[in-house]
Amino acid sequence: MKRSVLLFLIFICASGIRTYAQQQLINGKLVPAVLRMKNGDSVTTIKQWEEKRRPELIDFFRKEMYGQSPGKPTQLTFKVFDSDKKALGGKATRKQIAVYFEGNKDVEMGILLYIPNQVKHKVPAFVSLNFFGNQSVHPDTSIKLPTGRMVLEGQGVVNHLATAASRGSDTARWPIEMILDKGYAIATVYYGDIDPDNRTEITTGVRSLYPDLQNRADNFGTIAAWAWGLSRAMDYLETDKRIDSKRIAVLGLSRLGKAALWAGATDERFTLTISNESGAGGAKLFHSIAGESIRKLCTKFPNWYCRNFNKYIDRDDVLPFDQHMVISLVAPRPVYIASASEDLNSNPEGEFWGAKGADPVYRLLNTNGLPAASWPAINTPITGRIAYHNRSGKHDITNYDWIQFLNFADRYLKDQYPVDR
Ligand code: GCU
Repeated sequence: MKRSVLLFLIFICASGIRTYAQQQLINGKLVPAVLRMKNGDSVTTIKQWEEKRRPELIDFFRKEMYGQSPGKPTQLTFKVFDSDKKALGGKATRKQIAVYFEGNKDVEMGILLYIPNQVKHKVPAFVSLNFFGNQSVHPDTSIKLPTGRMVLEGQGVVNHLATAASRGSDTARWPIEMILDKGYAIATVYYGDIDPDNRTEITTGVRSLYPDLQNRADNFGTIAAWAWGLSRAMDYLETDKRIDSKRIAVLGLSRLGKAALWAGATDERFTLTISNESGAGGAKLFHSIAGESIRKLCTKFPNWYCRNFNKYIDRDDVLPFDQHMVISLVAPRPVYIASASEDLNSNPEGEFWGAKGADPVYRLLNTNGLPAASWPAINTPITGRIAYHNRSGKHDITNYDWIQFLNFADRYLKDQYPVDR
């Protein structure tokens, strides 16, 4: 055989091996390896993960998918306009806080916070965005009724205005008393206060405060804006003497689950992250193909990710990245990915494999990762430092989900530094 032909064959084999090694086998599919640097170097130490690979991934996802958020505003104002120690029949202290950014009063983010009175030490808290306004999470008539334009209609929101009928209209998703009885505070913010989820214009919401970023192909999208808002709620929680800001769980459902995951991935102050039925652009692996595609995401919701993300339309199964890498960014902090069996748009199995794909990073960081080799049966939670369940039923957040999340928090938020139990 001619020397040049031999060299050519050696080259082909070597690049084949290299390509294979740059991939990770997830559920029989080759997916880009989370523990392999872009330059092909493998990541074998905690130091390499923390100093090189994690920053490389964050940088990649900021440029190519979620967009670059502006960071903590130079001016951030918290106005506590309500504080009642005898709320909910004496069970809780209720606080309401108006948050303003960059010295601008046009955008106001309202935080509703309930703190359990029975807890005498600093209280761990859940923080989560809501879809229908803070007044929808509990019938408590002292919760401020929103006056601005609401994004969604229904549940007492008429002509995009919140009426008195919207009070407590979403309580099925918000078991406030159960959360308080378990010893957790709960903070919630109306998602529309942060970003109104408008497909084309950026005229209101926090993204309107940064006009210089708006023409950039990596301007922060709506998902990143909601995550940014969660970080600003965290900024407030750090100032509240009753709250243990070292024990904060961030949680979200659906598009808000995508935002909670990105918040947990990028803001290490969140001790624990829960992404409930977040689907495509959340926990689901795009490589799994089933469920919502990048094309659907980018055409139906062009505001969610940055313009650069359009490059990946129709490339779901050949992407140079995938969502297991986003979940990995949470490591070694505990993360819970949850699915619902009838939520086919989110693709429950793809969400499970997204979580499983993060396992090598959790193991590298000396935790037990996700202790399941295959997709578990319905209503069978699997709990490691990565947890997963597939609840029977529709796309939603139910008491069943909350009970698992509270148990997970009991396991990992009891101590300042999580230990595997
Ligand atoms: C749509 C969308 C999902 C999203 C969901 C929601 O169904 O396709 O990606 O998670 O809305 O946020 O309710």
